[in-house]
Amino acid sequence: MTDRDDAARAVLRRNDRGGFTVPNGRVYPFQWNWDSAFVALGFATFDLDRAWRELETLFEGQWQDGMVPHIVFRAPAEGYYPGPEAWGIQRQPLTSGISQPPVAATAARVLHDLSAGDAARIRGLFPKLFASHRWWHEIRDPDGTGLVTMVHPWESGRDNSPDWDEPLSHVVPSVDVAHLRKDLGHVDATQRPTHDFYNRVMTLVEEAKALAWDGVSVARTLSFRVCDLGIQSILLRADRDLLKLAEELGFSTEATALRDWIARSETAMQRLRGADGLYRSLDLRSGRLSEAVTCAAFLPLYARTASPEDALALKEYLAATRAVAGFSVASTDPRDRRFDATRYWRGPVWLMMNRMIADGLSGYGLTEEANTLRQDSGELVRRNGFWEYFDPRNGAGCGGPDFSWTAAMWLSWSGSPSAEQTLTAL
Ligand code: GLC
Repeated sequence: MTDRDDAARAVLRRNDRGGFTVPNGRVYPFQWNWDSAFVALGFATFDLDRAWRELETLFEGQWQDGMVPHIVFRAPAEGYYPGPEAWGIQRQPLTSGISQPPVAATAARVLHDLSAGDAARIRGLFPKLFASHRWWHEIRDPDGTGLVTMVHPWESGRDNSPDWDEPLSHVVPSVDVAHLRKDLGHVDATQRPTHDFYNRVMTLVEEAKALAWDGVSVARTLSFRVCDLGIQSILLRADRDLLKLAEELGFSTEATALRDWIARSETAMQRLRGADGLYRSLDLRSGRLSEAVTCAAFLPLYARTASPEDALALKEYLAATRAVAGFSVASTDPRDRRFDATRYWRGPVWLMMNRMIADGLSGYGLTEEANTLRQDSGELVRRNGFWEYFDPRNGAGCGGPDFSWTAAMWLSWSGSPSAEQTLTAL
């Protein structure tokens, strides 16, 4: 145990609001979906019961149709926009109306592996996890194409990635929310999305409200409909993890459904492969692949759906971008004109992305590359602390300090002395 491990645990304890963790007390004062899944991995290193609790409280926000919302507004808090009133959803606990990448089943599988044969917690959670996967595969893929739809950039968790520039340019802003924003009071404007971006994404919320948040109508008609390479890959990986759990626990009907979804997704993923062999997100309205290559390009490795040739192409791509950017993995290709080293998902390095990418690399035998990512990630924290994200050029911390998932990644991965084990632990 080092002082830094103590500091990481202290970040999680401080951001713990009693069974759920806020990403950062000031910028994000509620429970976020995929943050909680990563945070659970951090808690699992010193308090397994608390780790399970994090997933259980997240699923208390689950909707009747299976959706796990991207935010659960558990207790009123100042300083965040859009809060519960902007989403206009009548349920308890209050939630947002969109989802986020489904990392939860993978986290649950890791926790179950650590639970030494005690299946009580996973038995309680399994039906909820399964319902959330069914929501993605049925409500968000109503025609059974094998590609799931996201209807709002925030669902990707990579909020202002260049991947959304083109599809978002077709959303005609019907609101002006610049004066309602609270984030600019906490974080430098150069590190946050623009007003124009906020106006467009809040227009999508208004469109969904007009449909009374009906799942299939939202999936079929919102003016932003994209297959995010990130969600698609993370879901496929989580399907595989959920299938392992289903087989172990004897949920045979669910196992059959999961096998079908996996087969369908694997085939459909080929539609996301560009002529250069790199995968991208797909605008489902225009049928065009994103022009940008972003950190999501590595996630087919995490999904175990890339071919060995794809893996070699990604290895070269990683080396080339690292040579330019400094620290890996820059969230946008540093040679791209849209790269912006400090603006959120347009350049900075995010540690939980690095963890999934490293898991993917090691799954394809690229151990050296996986270790380099782990070292880069550890170095960023050692130099600067538990920031939300980091400037790839010099490692400077950006966004909010004392961030839960960065502390969790330190504890469960980049700060751990047993690198080889933790690299494959996901
Ligand atoms: C930002 C990130 C998103 C994350 C949230 C809370 O919106 O883009 O991925 O879940 O903050 O940390």
